[in-house]
Amino acid sequence: MKITIEKIKSMKGREKISVLTAYDYSTAKIMDDAGIDIVLVGDSLGMVVLGYENTLSVRMQDMLRHTAAVARGIKNAHVVGDMPVNSYTDEASAFLNAEALIKSGADSVKIENKPEIAKFLVDNGIEVMGHIGLTPQSVTSFKVQGKDKKSADKLLDLAKKLDKAGCYSLVLECIPMQLAKKITESISIPTIGIGAGPYCDGQVLVTNDMLGLFTDFKPKFVKRYAELKNEIKKAIENYHKDVKEGKFPGDEFSFH
Ligand code: KIV
Repeated sequence: MKITIEKIKSMKGREKISVLTAYDYSTAKIMDDAGIDIVLVGDSLGMVVLGYENTLSVRMQDMLRHTAAVARGIKNAHVVGDMPVNSYTDEASAFLNAEALIKSGADSVKIENKPEIAKFLVDNGIEVMGHIGLTPQSVTSFKVQGKDKKSADKLLDLAKKLDKAGCYSLVLECIPMQLAKKITESISIPTIGIGAGPYCDGQVLVTNDMLGLFTDFKPKFVKRYAELKNEIKKAIENYHKDVKEGKFPGDEFSFH
């Protein structure tokens, strides 16, 4: 059964929410079969799939194509389409772009910061997941955010504003776990942590990181659940060798 916004909200404090990123049909289908609650088509697409240095080169047309591919593989999970940089600079463009992501198959959209834009989207019928902390579209230094009292208070205030704006959940990225706990206890919607410790209502990881597919660097918060790069490399080396030695295709893979 499709996981609804009401279901996600009701999980706060009762059942942890599992979230992973996906960018293609085959992976999305496996995630859905595995019972993941939310599949996020993240703009991390830019780095782990498209090979850019950061997320700033991702465009709406990239997100639309990959969101549609993921949505085709999903029956039950809630699908979130990430809004790329410059796609929600004002209310009108935010609405048009969010609407396009929903038409491509997303059930909701995610934006970084910007409570006023979140409110406008929610007021116009679009469900929004917020995202604060280390927000890759706007930070200049990729380190833990909210470590001193002033910046921690600012993040808490922003979380409350996004809750009030009508977001149905909030991603907390790279913040100290005690701050994540405080935010989680201070707002009415589920928090989804990435590098934010165990007290969040749910957790998200970039799939290519946790499967060991993207290995250019590994943030401290990433737990590797598989080492697929090694597995894939081994399989490709075996194929390469078989072709060179004339061992593939044998009789069983040939037509008569
Ligand atoms: O783009 C992404 O994958 C994300 C997650 C890291 C939350 O925003």
